[in-house]
Amino acid sequence: MTRKRSIGFFAIGLGLLLALSVSLVAVHGSSHRGGARREGLGNFEETVGALPRGDGKSFRFAVLGDPEEAPAVFRGLMHQAFDLGAAFVLITGDVVDRPTREAYEFFSYQYRALGPAALPTFAAIGNHDICPERLFQEYLGPEEFHFLHRGSLFIFADNNGPEGCTPGARYIRETIARYRGQTEHVFIVLHKPIFDFSRAGGELQNSRENSLELYQILDAEKVDAVLAAHFHGYLREMYKDTLLLVTGGAGSKLHAPDAFFHMVLVDVGPDGIHDRIVRAEAGNSIWDRVSYRLAVKVHPFLFGAPHRALAVLLAAAALVVIGLGAVAPRRSRPAAPAGAPSVAGAGW
Ligand SMILES: [Fe+2]
Repeated sequence: MTRKRSIGFFAIGLGLLLALSVSLVAVHGSSHRGGARREGLGNFEETVGALPRGDGKSFRFAVLGDPEEAPAVFRGLMHQAFDLGAAFVLITGDVVDRPTREAYEFFSYQYRALGPAALPTFAAIGNHDICPERLFQEYLGPEEFHFLHRGSLFIFADNNGPEGCTPGARYIRETIARYRGQTEHVFIVLHKPIFDFSRAGGELQNSRENSLELYQILDAEKVDAVLAAHFHGYLREMYKDTLLLVTGGAGSKLHAPDAFFHMVLVDVGPDGIHDRIVRAEAGNSIWDRVSYRLAVKVHPFLFGAPHRALAVLLAAAALVVIGLGAVAPRRSRPAAPAGAPSVAGAGW
């Protein structure tokens, strides 16, 4: 075997062993033994209880959409929201890219690692979050949820039905009716936009005609804003007096050439509601990309089936041993003493 080939075997084997160990570290570092829920994260009464207390009607909140596979952008935006005085954060869906337990664990770990910047955070369910195991509900609470904060009502509902149908429309209608006369502002938090849009080079998505139930609510009730995502960029329209905001720039691959990572800050005050876009300061580092893939994709693939993990481990070890054996320096023969007869060429 040539020296070059041996070094190749050794490097591949070592790389496999490294990938196995780092994926184990990434997953076990991010897993949590105390159950799926994290304090301050998700549509739970405990999260509502963590909101800042006080009677004033003015407050600020941040809206982030589609963090998916970009932990560093998400973490950076959460720190910016904290520094800019947001009281809480709304995620407009697609918390994860693939709805696996590893992905939810990884997201929860990222949230927990924020420290003081782990603001109370609620989320609408996105199409990427849905799975038969109902992991979104386990980690982030019910998809239909509402809370009242300083006179403003926030309603979370599911609009990921086929052809944009809104399974949560009835819940929205009933919740608005329940709090009628008790609220100054109403915000609806969904995942999919309710107006037509298209991704760069893509077909027009007929979201408006698929959201007729929601427009009936907007026509009948005073709703200040519908907050959504799904389009990985920023769109803003008005429907009569209702703001229709789409903010899907919290980390996932952008859908338009002029789009950029961002969040939206919303100020609620005596003079009304003001929204402004805030560009993300952080990008995704190489380590973030690598650790995400190892924890969320490589680890489940390798360790999802024990025989696969064993086969990879054995193959990696064999390559290292073969490579090492061929590359290791051979023991050299001791030099013959001066004057000793040479074996080579000896004869009669
Ligand atoms: Fe998305």
